[in-house]
Amino acid sequence: MKILLLGSGGRESALAWKISQSKLTDALFIAPGNGGTGAYGTNVALNPLDFNAVKDFVSTNGIDMIVVGNEDPLVAGIFDFFAQEMPQVLVVGPSKEGARLEGSKDFAKKFMMDCGIPTARYRSFTKETAQEGCDFLATLRAPYVLKADGLAAGKGVLIIDNLEEAQNSLREMLSGMFGGASATVVVEEFLSGIECSVFVLTDGNGGYRILPVAKDYKRIGEGDTGLNTGGMGAVSPVPFADEEFMNKVTERIVEPTIKGLAEAGITYRGFIFLGLINVGGEPMVIEYNVRMGDPETEAVMLRIDADLVELMAAAARGNLGTLPLPHSPLAAATVMMVSGGYPGSYPKGKVITGIDNVKDSIVFHAGTKTTPEGQTVTSGGRVLAVSSTAPTLEEALAKSFGSIASIDFEGAYFRRDIGRDVTAK
Ligand code: AMP
Ligand code: GLY
Repeated sequence: MKILLLGSGGRESALAWKISQSKLTDALFIAPGNGGTGAYGTNVALNPLDFNAVKDFVSTNGIDMIVVGNEDPLVAGIFDFFAQEMPQVLVVGPSKEGARLEGSKDFAKKFMMDCGIPTARYRSFTKETAQEGCDFLATLRAPYVLKADGLAAGKGVLIIDNLEEAQNSLREMLSGMFGGASATVVVEEFLSGIECSVFVLTDGNGGYRILPVAKDYKRIGEGDTGLNTGGMGAVSPVPFADEEFMNKVTERIVEPTIKGLAEAGITYRGFIFLGLINVGGEPMVIEYNVRMGDPETEAVMLRIDADLVELMAAAARGNLGTLPLPHSPLAAATVMMVSGGYPGSYPKGKVITGIDNVKDSIVFHAGTKTTPEGQTVTSGGRVLAVSSTAPTLEEALAKSFGSIASIDFEGAYFRRDIGRDVTAK
């Protein structure tokens, strides 16, 4: 098969690494890719949101399957575009309607309520109902959770301790704090617990497989302090997500989600990302995403003992059949090296050295690029995802930290406590 992978982050590096190992892969193109993805295929200077340009490339190069890394092209309707324009091309992902599970938090909450899926109690408000929103906030207990309905580059969720401040923020959000994304705001109950990420590959016809479960680390500072980031590391498996917990996830969340999509007539042939929280042993849904997670993918791909291309193609054709998706018994750990200053402003163009010395880990590039002189330099906040496997999480983490010691770029920062919360005895 000839495959086009859309995206440029660490997640796409890990997907490209896995796709390049498949016996079914004849050619792999990554658009636009990064400074590391050229090791697994050919980088192509294409904007994934320019569907006509993507179509031209697909048709000129005889692409059989498009794998969409991030949500933007899905929310913008790339699945429907190709279903209409080039129906012979497989697209791994949901239809535009399915992508609303991530593109609209109000839609996702309604869907969960309709399907009886456990999630925080909520109500949605617009400018016209701002006063009702303030009254609803007063019925909840602190902290207060306010979510912009639409995509807001991961910044649209506010968690506020004080009622008056929450009421003011609600009004500000409804007046355009996140532009059109916060024209509707979901106000919900705060849930207390540890989060984990469950990924499901579905074929849209009732067939699905659950991928290895992972946990990511969102805050910049050790001990989960400071600003939110795109993700500072990930581990898989997650010790608390044991068989009993995962059985509850399957029965109460995965199966009702698959059934609910079918009942709503929503076409969905791709990855579903369940952002879950463990509330006293009971899984509840914090959010849906319609793609794989980043940096979870950089750990999860190392634990899939199967041909991912075969699985994705079967899902995109609408028939996973009996294809197995075995999980490796090894543990995987990813530690992100980020630019100094991230998630605030940070310099770019810093020369990265030492990657070639790494022997015990796989270094997935994220925010990197190759200069015309052939040097690898930083080009983003999250720069490298240093990923390792070992029989235990402790050993996998030790390998990643050991590998990081031999990599350098000016201002490099990473969290030394990735995985500590789930491994500490
Ligand atoms: P979301 O964009 O919905 O994933 O929200 C971003 C983050 O806010 C989540 O990963 C959680 O850490 C936190 N969060 C969202 N909703 C809640 C909630 N109802 N209770 C507690 N934390 C939440
Ligand atoms: N790691 C969380 C995300 O990809 O949204």
